[in-house]
Amino acid sequence: MVALLLANGPNLNLLGTREPDVYGAATLDDVVGAVRAHAADRDVEVRDVQSNHEGDLLEAIHEARSWADGLVINPGGWTHTSVALRDAIAASGLPAVEVHLSNVHAREPFRHTSVTAGACVGVVAGFGVASYLLGVDALLGHLEG
Ligand code: DQA
Repeated sequence: MVALLLANGPNLNLLGTREPDVYGAATLDDVVGAVRAHAADRDVEVRDVQSNHEGDLLEAIHEARSWADGLVINPGGWTHTSVALRDAIAASGLPAVEVHLSNVHAREPFRHTSVTAGACVGVVAGFGVASYLLGVDALLGHLEG
């Protein structure tokens, strides 16, 4: 059975109330539930983590080396800043798909650069919760080769 880590970075615990005009009305539980249901239909196991503490996310990625086949990650604001997160994704050796609810390229210029995307197989952005589901499918397609 394929297993993946769904990792969500800072402030994503506030989904549902956080800038709903930008990020939509779905809560983090809604997002994780949708990913789990989508993955279950495909016989894929999902473990999830969200943290506002960078080290916790780094360690979850380190641990994923021992059980996961890949990562679906929304690094939140760390997308644009965190060399350490990029390095953790690269060091994991796991294929990763970066996802964003919003179309970061249609927003402020500082969101146009992703530090982390270069360590990922690819990026899905701008489709709300569907970005995550597309990310799962992209990862599975990559794993199937
Ligand atoms: C985000 C986009 C980031 O720029 C922002 O800092 C987030 C959420 C998204 O899902 O659209 O926290 O990753």
